[in-house]
Amino acid sequence: NSYQLWGGRFSEKPSEALQALNISLPYDSRLYADDLDASKAYAEALQRAGYLNTAEADKLVKSLELIRYDWIERTIKFLPTDEDVHTVNERLLVEITGELGQRLHTGRSRNDQVVTDMKLWLRRGIRETLGRLSRVIESAVKQAEVHLGVLIPGYTHMQRAQPVQFSHWLLSHAFALREDCLRLVELRDRANVLPLGSGALAGNPLGIDRLWLAERLGFSGVTANSMHAVGDRDFVVDFIYCCSLVSLHLSRFAEDLIIYSTKEFDFIRLHDSLSSGSSLMPQKRNPDSLELIRGISGVISSNLTGIMMTIKGTPSTYNKDLQFDKEYCFQSFDKLKQVLDVTQGVIQTMQVQRDTMEAALSPDMLATDWAYYLVKKGIPFRQAHHFIGRVVSLAEQRGVGITEVPLGELQKICPAFGSDIASVADYANNVQQYDVIGGTATASIEEQLRLLNNFVKDM
Ligand code: ARG
Repeated sequence: NSYQLWGGRFSEKPSEALQALNISLPYDSRLYADDLDASKAYAEALQRAGYLNTAEADKLVKSLELIRYDWIERTIKFLPTDEDVHTVNERLLVEITGELGQRLHTGRSRNDQVVTDMKLWLRRGIRETLGRLSRVIESAVKQAEVHLGVLIPGYTHMQRAQPVQFSHWLLSHAFALREDCLRLVELRDRANVLPLGSGALAGNPLGIDRLWLAERLGFSGVTANSMHAVGDRDFVVDFIYCCSLVSLHLSRFAEDLIIYSTKEFDFIRLHDSLSSGSSLMPQKRNPDSLELIRGISGVISSNLTGIMMTIKGTPSTYNKDLQFDKEYCFQSFDKLKQVLDVTQGVIQTMQVQRDTMEAALSPDMLATDWAYYLVKKGIPFRQAHHFIGRVVSLAEQRGVGITEVPLGELQKICPAFGSDIASVADYANNVQQYDVIGGTATASIEEQLRLLNNFVKDM
């Protein structure tokens, strides 16, 4: 009852050790629907080329649908000789249709078949990933809307820099994810050319209408060179790269949140359902969810190296090394899916500690705005920067904030200081000055929210 796609020229079966290594069914079975879809279209193409009559093509298409049903119902009895998803589907087809099923593979190779299946899967994989990404962006947008007006110290080099709005910080991460979405959309469009009809490597001599096949399967065109098409996994590399970048963005976001959720900062409180305790220290509340988000970026990025190293040494066209593309690809997809869901939960449920954030602001963070104050009085910026530096140093010597240095002392450093410097002391007011496109003023953030809301709506 065993079914092998090859074997005519062999007198010995493959060794058990090789079979164990060769079998890809455990991870390529998730291509079953793509494989059936491509086979249905190919049966029709064979009919159009005159290799099957209408009744035969119909029978094949209907039988392939029966096989889909078996996959869905999990009623397939797998055999030890089922090498990969293509073998299983063809074996089942022959079991249903006999000799007719043996005609389906006419002019087709698993080489153009598997890369076609992968491209069909990619479209679904990208669609699902985009859906999850946009839900994460949406949850960030919601929190940013609710907390508009909340201030937080902004950091560079992890040193206190300038006051910004909490929403501005949160949306900075959402915008990175928006770029990721655009990258995936670009990949989806670029990769969407059909390899089927490339045969093993030389193309198809039977008059298969590739353009018709492409349209039938929703591709925007066909690959231009059959040898390139069967050996090309660049779209898998691209996809894993996209996943890696998303995971790096989530990792950086998680790192911010890990710092912000320490007792020392206490800007953010992570929801109980996304934290865990310590088996030893009863008081502990650990941000495991965030650490897993951060850690998984290592797993996904290593898949990028993995696929690149797999391709590196392969000569032209198809080589069995390429079979490993699926493990890298699907693992990256699966892991990313998990962390995107957890990230969404983290954002939706995190508690924003407005009071601690705003209490953490300190007058030294106004130094830049003080320099701008002098600039508005006509002082060149480089000199203003220097004068304020001296004010900061004086305040530090005295152990006070710059806002507590008496006006007389300020005027000794620079005579342009006036009593109106007292107005540059309100963080909320200062933040509102940053009203350029992309700035941290409320009007600028509202524009960012509009952009992201529209983006999510159009996805
Ligand atoms: N399972 C194989 C893969 O995923 C299918 C292609 C096999 N082709 C071949 N000529 N052995 O790469």
